[in-house]
Amino acid sequence: MTVLRTIKERRSIHTFEEKEVDIELLREIFTYGSYAPTHYMKEPWQMKLYQRDGKDTLIHAIIRSYQRIGMIRNSNDPKTIKMIDSMKSFLHSIPHHAVIYFEKEEDPVRYEEEYAAVCAFIQNSQLAAWEFGVGMLWTITPYMHDPGFYSDIELDANKSKIAAVLQIGYPKKVPRNKGRTSITDKMQIIE
Ligand SMILES: Cc1cc2nc3c(=O)[nH]c(=O)nc-3n(C[C@H](O)[C@H](O)[C@H](O)COP(=O)(O)O)c2cc1C
Repeated sequence: MTVLRTIKERRSIHTFEEKEVDIELLREIFTYGSYAPTHYMKEPWQMKLYQRDGKDTLIHAIIRSYQRIGMIRNSNDPKTIKMIDSMKSFLHSIPHHAVIYFEKEEDPVRYEEEYAAVCAFIQNSQLAAWEFGVGMLWTITPYMHDPGFYSDIELDANKSKIAAVLQIGYPKKVPRNKGRTSITDKMQIIE
């Protein structure tokens, strides 16, 4: 595929096959990701990749966080237990989860540079993955703002910022292309 075609054909994937993506292929995909532009060559992207039994730690941290922030009740009533079980089994069904984070900069300009470079890294990775038939879902969720979640996954919320959690695997279903608004509507030409 050409890069132009991949840009248009890549879709966010919500359901994955059980089959794992080989770790060497994931390394290759994220190596393409790392060719993202990066001011001062900081290459700020860092990643914790959760797979196999490693997913337990992440999933446990997610559930605990949802309970702390009130998205799930902290009780043993059957409805809550059922909800937690179905959330756990959904998250377990995703072959790989990548927590993408970077070291925080105090200077707001530097902070934005690092965040922007990490976003470019993510999109490069999504495009590279698509070329290899691998799907991703870029997620931003409330637990990314919960310091307790950071400590549960051995990060320091004062020092690190989680930019995204990527769900990764071979697509079970590829959503339809929703298209995009004509760029003409978003482009003011000043001359
Ligand atoms: C920063 C960012 C955060 C996103 N967070 C979520 C998310 O939490 N859950 C989700 O289902 N999709 C999320 N998405 C994916 C968008 O929903 C998706 O890109 C959009 O529907 C367009 O679909 P496409 O990527 O297949 O073109 C996110 C995308 C971006 C760029």
